[in-house]
Amino acid sequence: MKRKLFFPIIITFSTIVVVAAFFWGLYVYVTDRNFQTTDHALKNVIELQASAIYNGYFAWTTLYDTVLQGDFAKVAELVEDIKENFPLVDSLEFERGLPPDERYAISLDGELLRIEYSIQNDDGTATVPDMFAVAIIQVQKLLEIVSPHAFKVDIAHGRKASYGIPISTSVGFFNPTNIVAIALVSTLIAWLILQRYARRNEFFFDIRGLESIIYLFEQTEKFSASHSRNVAIFALFIGKKLDFKGKRLRNLYVAALLHDIGKIGVPTSIVVKTGKLDAKEYAQMKQHPVISARILRGFREFEHLGNIVLHHHEREDGSGYPDGLRGEEIPLESKIIAVVDVFEALVGERPYRNPIHPMSAFEKMRQMPLDQRIVGILIDHYEELRTFKAPRWVLSYSPWIINAKGSSMWFQ
Ligand SMILES: [Fe+2]
Repeated sequence: MKRKLFFPIIITFSTIVVVAAFFWGLYVYVTDRNFQTTDHALKNVIELQASAIYNGYFAWTTLYDTVLQGDFAKVAELVEDIKENFPLVDSLEFERGLPPDERYAISLDGELLRIEYSIQNDDGTATVPDMFAVAIIQVQKLLEIVSPHAFKVDIAHGRKASYGIPISTSVGFFNPTNIVAIALVSTLIAWLILQRYARRNEFFFDIRGLESIIYLFEQTEKFSASHSRNVAIFALFIGKKLDFKGKRLRNLYVAALLHDIGKIGVPTSIVVKTGKLDAKEYAQMKQHPVISARILRGFREFEHLGNIVLHHHEREDGSGYPDGLRGEEIPLESKIIAVVDVFEALVGERPYRNPIHPMSAFEKMRQMPLDQRIVGILIDHYEELRTFKAPRWVLSYSPWIINAKGSSMWFQ
């Protein structure tokens, strides 16, 4: 099987299993609730039916006397009368034997309900001693009254309801409604998961691709390999100190990582020039944040980072570029990148000068029009920064760069 298909198939299959399990749980719950309700109704109907027949006929001195007198022609007439008034009664017969202890006794015989009646006078003080009446009712008929189409008598697998009546639901789990619902819900969930996965993948590979471009570009510059990566780690550190979390922290990291990607749009002779840039060259160099923003805006996943990279060379007093923004006009993320960008440039190794000691760098930075609150955070937590370990999700972007020779962070 192609690897490409493996993941979607596993996700779809797992989703179906989870959704089906959820539906099964729901089905069991609903069926149980229905069972309780049906059982309650069934019991009431049986009790009502039994007591109505008793009160109407078997607590009746006329019938009591007729039976004692042995006038069975008249008894037969009364039986017909009972069957007519109680259509649920299938048959009603008189049997010789001891009457039940109570007014009537209900028992189950297969799928039939058997109600044995004592034959008593009006006030129930006298009972025919050696005879009783038996009314037979089909339980299924009662079930159809209390719960049409939902339950059926099921001797083999039914759950015991009142009087031991075994009933089971007529609506199986694998009915068309459930199957369609499971299929629809599973498809929707699997689609959402796969969409999210595809977006994450896209994000991951876009970063990896752009990061690789920057890395290779910086390698050709010869003097600042891994500058962007160091800036990104420092920015992440400051972001954490400023309580950035989740997406905001990740955005800061990615923006810092890609802030200088626009340099690939500036002639290499200008980028690698070690001497002072003339006005024309400087004007071209100042275009790199604009190009960075343009590149990032070309990717759906990074569009929103465009503004951050656009302003990473702005300064608090408006002396920066490209828009000369001041103070609060500059996005906080851009200010962070500006501070750590300057710091990395000062303390990083360059072939044409020795790295500046961090303490000297801090002194210089205190005089620069940078956000001094962020500079202060950097100075206060400098020792912690030296041992700061980036979280795993950061390292996952470009493991091959981390492992590449000579590309480790400057202080390691
Ligand atoms: Fe830059």
